[in-house]
This record gives sequence, structure tokens and C-alpha cells, in this order.
Amino acid sequence: MPDLTKPLTIAQLGCGYWGPNLLRNFSGLPGCHVKNVVDFDADRRKFVETNFPLTSALDSLDPVFDDPAIEAIVIATPAGNHFELAKRALEAGKHIFVEKPLATRVSEVDELERLANAQELVVMSGHTFIYNNAVRYVKQLIDNGDLGEIRYIYTQRLNLGRIRSDIDALWNFAPHDISIIQYWLGDPEPLQVFRNGMDFMQPGIEDVVFLNITYPGKIIANIHVSWLDPQKVRKMIVVGSRKMVVYDDIAEDKIAIYDKGIDRKAILGENMDFDSPPRQVQFNYRSGDILLPQIRFTEPLRMEAQHFVDCIRRGSKPATGISHTRNVIRILEESGRKKED
Ligand SMILES: NC(=O)c1ccc[n+]([C@@H]2O[C@H](COP(=O)([O-])OP(=O)(O)OC[C@H]3O[C@@H](n4cnc5c(N)ncnc54)[C@H](O)[C@@H]3O)[C@@H](O)[C@H]2O)c1
Repeated sequence: MPDLTKPLTIAQLGCGYWGPNLLRNFSGLPGCHVKNVVDFDADRRKFVETNFPLTSALDSLDPVFDDPAIEAIVIATPAGNHFELAKRALEAGKHIFVEKPLATRVSEVDELERLANAQELVVMSGHTFIYNNAVRYVKQLIDNGDLGEIRYIYTQRLNLGRIRSDIDALWNFAPHDISIIQYWLGDPEPLQVFRNGMDFMQPGIEDVVFLNITYPGKIIANIHVSWLDPQKVRKMIVVGSRKMVVYDDIAEDKIAIYDKGIDRKAILGENMDFDSPPRQVQFNYRSGDILLPQIRFTEPLRMEAQHFVDCIRRGSKPATGISHTRNVIRILEESGRKKED
């Protein structure tokens, strides 16, 4: 049994662009102490020591893996070394929180799962949006049946920059969209994944990708990601048979619920039903009110950090643990498979 009176001691690997957000949130949690940050870049270490006086910055990994006082490791390094660092941390007996993507192959996720299960360690991915109240609100609408049958979902995560050279735009942005869609739909297994992307700025690294997913139950999804776009867009649209929802992460009103739809009209004289194919189908167009629900704002990263600590303390599985993450990685991995594979 862990000693709940003692703070959870954490170390963080990587503190570049995104790492400071994690560091601020983990440092601000009661019952949590970030003892060390490791970053090979001297400027980043200086940043840590200037802004987080209770944390000491190191330039090598071994002291953190070897320190028995450190119970958990937060990984915010570039995607390419997540798996190796995560594996080392689990082998050293530490719980891990890993920024998305946890790994680049399903087989790697399986290996991390085996290591974690053998020692009852928590593995959690930084699929931040699952801790976002607007995303959770849409999930409730779907689960309550308010939208009717889900027909299609499309998403746009676009901006000019910030271009990466280690991964393409799909692996950089789409883990968010895939994670949200999977969460909304109850983590189904897709029937088909098809990717269409192009590299313009760096050979082999696609700047824009359209990813099409077909799910069971006649549900389709399209994910459009790009760092080569004139506008910053963070939008997801869910079209249901009863209502339709626009989730705009950068708008003041994050959620708009449209009471809109099209129904087939029953035709008099044909048994008032659709048993026999009508000669000419007629439609009812519905265009009702637009509802803008007030969503209580809580910083998703704060909720995410707290959830990681709670899972360690209670020995429970995170919402964005191995099984959710495996499905996200599977879709990304399958999307990269060429025809001849
Ligand atoms: N959840 C989100 O919304 C979100 C947003 C942005 C980035 N991210 C994720 O965060 C991760 C980091 O992205 P970033 O934009 O901060 O990258 P970055 O390149 O700006 O920063 C990475 C940092 O890690 C350091 N580093 C590299 N290898 C290391 C190692 N082996 N040990 C210790 N430090 C090491 C680098 O010196 C650098 O300071 C990525 O996985 C990215 O996908 C998540």
C-alpha cells in the first residue's frame, strides 16, 4: 500500500515547448512533488530552475531511473524516443505518463502493457482532450441519444506552423482527433482506414493529411490535419440523425447544438411506411433552434495530471490508459500501411 501521507515524487523528461505546461500542472497539484526535470538542452534546464525552484534540472537520465524516491516519470520528449524512455522507466519500476503518441507501433504498446502489468504500474497517455469538459459534454449528448444515430464526424486541426521534422502532421495532430472520436463512439474497431496526404516542405514528411475512417454501423469520419494552412482551426462536427453539434475549441461558445435534420416523409396511400420503395421519396427538413450550452472551464491538463496521480494512489486504470491508446496507435499505424504491405 502506498503511503498516502507522503507526496508523490515525480521526475519529468523533456521540457521544450509543451513540457512547461505539464511541469506547471504537476508542480501545482497538492500531494505531488516534481523532484527533477531532465533535459539535454542547457537553456531548458535554466528555464526550469528559474521558474520552478523546488525542482532541480539534470542533464542525464540515469540518476532519475536509479532514484528509488522517484515513483513516477512524465515523458514530454519528441515522439521518436517515447517508447524507449517509457520502457526504461517501467523496467526501473516507475509509473509513467507519456505525451501522445505513446509509441509508434501497436507491438510497442503491447510490450509496455506486459511490463506494466507484471509490476502493477500505471501507464497513461497524454490524450489531453479526454479531460476537456467540452469533449465530455459531447460524449454525454451522444450517449444520451440526444443526437440520434451518429452518421458522420469530421474534424479540422489546422494552422500555419509549427512544422516538425521528426514526425508528420498526422502523427503530430491526429492523435487528438482519433482519441476524441474513439472516446465519443465508445472505442469501436474501425472497418477501414484510408489516408491521403502530401509532403511539400520536407521529403517524406507530410504537411497535410486527410484521414478517412469507416466504422461499423454506417458511421464515417474524416480528419483533416495541416501545418500549412492560412487559418488556425480546431473544429469537430458531429452529424446525427436528430441533431448536429459543432465543437470549436477556439471559439468563445465551444459547443453549438443545431436542432437540424432531414427525415423521410411517409407517403399517404402507401401504408404510411417505407415497406415498399416509394416511387418518389419525399423529405422533411427540420431547422430549429441552436443551443449554446455553457461549459464550465477547468484546465484539461490539471484534470489529466490529477487523474494520473489518483490512478497511482488508488491502483486504478486511467481513462487514457493502454486500451484507449492501443486503438489510437492502431489507426495511425494502419493509416501508414501502403497497399503492397
Ligand atoms: N497534449 C498536447 O496538446 C500536446 C501539445 C504539444 C506537444 N505535445 C507533445 O509533447 C511532446 C513534446 O513536444 P514539444 O513540442 O514540447 O517538443 P520539443 O522538441 O519542443 O521539446 C522536447 C524537449 O525534450 C528534450 N529532450 C529530447 N530528448 C530527450 C531525452 N532523451 N531526455 C530528456 N529530454 C530530452 C529536448 O531537449 C526538448 O527540450 C511530443 O510528444 C508532442 O506530441 C502534446
